Amino acid sequence: MIVAQIMEKMIAFSNGDIHDIDHLIRVWTYAKTIGELESLDQQTQEVLEIAAITHDIACPLCREKYGNTNGRHQETEGALMVRDFLTGTGMTERQVDRVSFLVGHHHTLTGIDGMDHQILVEADYIANAAENGYSKENITNFMAGIMKTQSGKRLLAAVSGLWSTFSGFGR
Ligand SMILES: [Fe+2]
Repeated sequence: MIVAQIMEKMIAFSNGDIHDIDHLIRVWTYAKTIGELESLDQQTQEVLEIAAITHDIACPLCREKYGNTNGRHQETEGALMVRDFLTGTGMTERQVDRVSFLVGHHHTLTGIDGMDHQILVEADYIANAAENGYSKENITNFMAGIMKTQSGKRLLAAVSGLWSTFSGFGR
């Protein structure tokens, strides 16, 4: 229930920016799917899904303030903004802290800290690879170097139309 409430709130926050809304829905769908296929415990799954929904919360602000959504400031601004955004949603302080950490590190590929962080990074990449048409080389490198979950690898291969290139994921 809390995930649905936060989804509604985030769509309202995005206020007609269909690019942002489509992206967050896609990242949430991939994160939810990978988390469930990887059998996360319920607490971790919930934090992951809420982080996926809110991860790009600072994009509108950064477009305005910096003229782009690149780099560290999107993470830093997002980690702060998401705390306000989640106030009054019934989440515990610990959950809010973790979501804030994840939003603040969703582009940070070094020192990935926990399955929620790992899966958020994987889900965002899968969505971005399709949206931006990443090259086969970029996808192959990311899959080999960064991805850890078998379900994330299968989804990335399928979404990017490279299923026949990769094999041995098992099932
Ligand atoms: Fe994203």
